[in-house]
Order: sequence, then structure tokens, then C-alpha cells
Amino acid sequence: MHIASVGVSKFCFLLSLAFCGLLLLLIPALQPQAPQVDLPHPRPQVRPAQSGPLHHNGVPAVTDAASGLNESSVGQGGSMEKEHNRNGTHTPERGMDPKMNQEKGTWTGGKGEGLPDFRSRDPLELKDIFIAVKTTRKYHRSRLELLIQTWVSQAKEQTYIFTDCEDKELRMRTGANIINTNCSAAHTRQALCCKMSVEYDKFIESQKKWFCHVDDDNYVILPSLLRLLSSYHHSQDVYLGRPSLDHPIEAAERIKSDGSVTVKFWFATGGAGFCISRGLALKMSPWASLGNFISTAEKIRLPDDCTIGYIIEALLEVALTHTHLFHSHLENLQKLPTNTALEQVTLSYGGFENRRNVVSIVGGFSLAEDPTRFKTVHCLLYQDTDWCPKLKPHHKN
Ligand SMILES: *[C@@H]1O[C@H](CO)[C@@H](O)[C@H](O)[C@H]1NC(C)=O
Ligand SMILES: *[C@@H]1O[C@H](CO)[C@@H](O)[C@H](O)[C@H]1NC(C)=O
Ligand SMILES: *[C@@H]1O[C@H](CO)[C@@H](O)[C@H](O)[C@H]1NC(C)=O
Repeated sequence: MHIASVGVSKFCFLLSLAFCGLLLLLIPALQPQAPQVDLPHPRPQVRPAQSGPLHHNGVPAVTDAASGLNESSVGQGGSMEKEHNRNGTHTPERGMDPKMNQEKGTWTGGKGEGLPDFRSRDPLELKDIFIAVKTTRKYHRSRLELLIQTWVSQAKEQTYIFTDCEDKELRMRTGANIINTNCSAAHTRQALCCKMSVEYDKFIESQKKWFCHVDDDNYVILPSLLRLLSSYHHSQDVYLGRPSLDHPIEAAERIKSDGSVTVKFWFATGGAGFCISRGLALKMSPWASLGNFISTAEKIRLPDDCTIGYIIEALLEVALTHTHLFHSHLENLQKLPTNTALEQVTLSYGGFENRRNVVSIVGGFSLAEDPTRFKTVHCLLYQDTDWCPKLKPHHKN
């Protein structure tokens, strides 16, 4: 009797053990997939860290929330000087090697093509690319009109201009897609992040395969862009651009930890333009969609382009593919060999502060007629354009 009872409870015990084992085995299978695909926005649960030793300092007070796009709700702060003071970033002595995408071998120097084995079979078309141009009301006439007249005219459907005011006149006259982000026109980190947040959401909504961001002083050489992106597949994790620094930046990790540890990552400088595959963009959603981008940027207190790099390299652990085909006004553009200019993906110009920093290219317009050289580039690419001089392309000015 006694023995039998022990036997029974032993049996029960073993049975429950087996049952638990079975449950344990089943748990992984029952778990939902990692939140990758859709837009529910699990906001990373992180306390807004107190002003810690962030090397890329910004506003002292961190405001969380900011789920709306009204950037004034994100808090005031005008320390945008930091945006260009990327020198100020702490450089680790033994700089972590760029996380090279070794299996893809994608450190693309010089000519920057991707690897042949990753070329996709289905040909990419221009209409598959979402091109976001970031501007502000002050530059609608001086910068934007030139873009609309030149490269944007060749990609009108898929180019979206993100600005901070209504400009019905420009929209009517040019037929451009102009989006009023309702973000502030100030050149603050908050305002720039607000625009990037709207760009991201519009891209996701667009269903296009690639997201490319450029500034209003960039010329996009569309055939080169198409060629470059065709080297990859939009479902791969691809983040393409040009770092403005020769080392990764370091910031306090405030999303995955409390800010007591730092994280190093590369980012593509926004002024030269960068592209992100749709596959990767979808994975960014928890930190980028529906206003989350603004709160992510606030937490780490970095400008918009650094925040993109942070989300991709530090949070998603996808390496930036470095390419030299993108160019910003911060570079010496005259150094670009003339015979390779039309193979680049983006070009820029120095603007007011540095008028002579332009691509040296010779064509139908003199430097006085075309101080940015964008018209000249455009006429070399699209000779049939009605306003292009009907001259031999290499006619000397
Ligand atoms: C943004 O927020 C401020 C302050 O909360 C408010 O005054 C303003 O009307 C808001 N703007 C928009 C476009 O919602
Ligand atoms: C960045 O650093 C370089 C070299 O140290 C210096 O020449 C340049 O003026 C610095 N730029 C800024 C914006 O501080
Ligand atoms: C900006 O505000 C206008 C008017 O309230 C609205 O129609 C538009 O959708 C807003 N833009 C964005 C990007 O939210």
C-alpha cells in the first residue's frame, strides 16, 4: 500500500516532468516571430537617460514621448551647431574596425560597385526607388528650383520633397511632390529628425523597394543610382552611403542599456545622401516609425543621419556599406576626376560659403551661367533637354 502509493506519486512526478519537458520543447515553436515586418510600434522601453557622458552633446534635457510629428512637442533646444561639429565626437584610441560586411565584401571603395554574386535577377527600375529630398522654405527658390529643373524632372513620380511650409505655387507650377512635414523650419536637430521621421513613414507607405535620402544641394545621377542599387536586393539588409568621418562615432547606449556603456557605429552622412533597402527599413520600424524616430534621436541626442546609423549599426547590427559614389559639400569636390563625375551617384556644391567648391566639369554652361555645375551635368546626361545648349557636349566655354 505504502509502496504502491510511492509508486503512484513517483509515476505522477515523472509524468509531470515529461509534460513540462514537452511544453518546453513546444515554447519556441509557439512563440510569434520577432517583430520585423509590420508597423505595430513596440517602443523600446528605455528610461530617458539623464545627461550622461554623451560625447555628441546636444540638448541637456531629454524629452521622451514625442510620438507626434509636431516637433515643438519634443522640447526646445537649438544646439544644432553640434550637427556639423562631428569632430567633437569622441574618438576611441583603438578605433573599432569598421564592421565590414565580410561575407558580402562590401567595403566599396573608388568605383563602389557591389559584388556580382549579389546582383538581383529582377531588374530594378527607377520607379522602385523612393527619393526623399530634404529642404526648408528658405531654399525653395534658390536650391529646390534648380533640382526640379534638372534631375528631379527625370524622376518626378518617385521623388518627394520634404519641407516645412506649404508652397502651392511651386507645386502647381512644377508638378513636384512637395510634402509639408509641419516640422519646424529651424535648423535644429529636432526639426531635422522630425523631417526624417516623416520621410521614413512616407517611404514605408509607398511600398517602394529602396529609400534614398538626399539634401537640397545634391544632384542625383539617376542612372548611377539605379546601377548601384541593382547590385543588391531590396530584401537584403542594405545601408549604403558615405561616412563623413574616418572612424565610427561613439555614443552612450541609452536604448539597450542605461547609458553607462558606449556604442560605436558608422553612419552615412546625410549631406551626401544614403540609401536603405526596404527589408532593412522595415526592421527599423520599432525605432523609426510613427514618430519613434524622434524619440530615438532624443534618447541618444544625435542628429538625424547619426540616428539612422545608430538604429542600423548599433541596434540592428547591420553594417553600413561604405561607398565613395556619394558626395556632400563638405568634401573637396574639385578633386573628383572630371572623367568620373557622371559615374557618381550624388554630387553637391559649396554654396555661399565656398562658391568655388564645385565639380570641375566642362559643358554647355560657363561657371558664371551655372555656378553649381548642375545644369552642365544635367545637359551631359540628358542632351535632349529643351534648355540645354545645342552644342557638342565638349564644347569649351
Ligand atoms: C504643435 O504644438 C504646439 C505646442 O504644443 C502647438 O501650439 C501647435 O499648434 C502644434 N502644431 C501643430 C501643427 O500641431
Ligand atoms: C575638424 O577637425 C579638423 C582636423 O582636426 C579641423 O581642421 C576642422 O576645422 C574641424 N572642423 C570643425 C567643424 O570643428
Ligand atoms: C501637415 O498638416 C496638414 C494640415 O494640418 C495636414 O493636412 C498634413 O497631412 C500634415 N502633414 C503631415 C506630413 O503630417
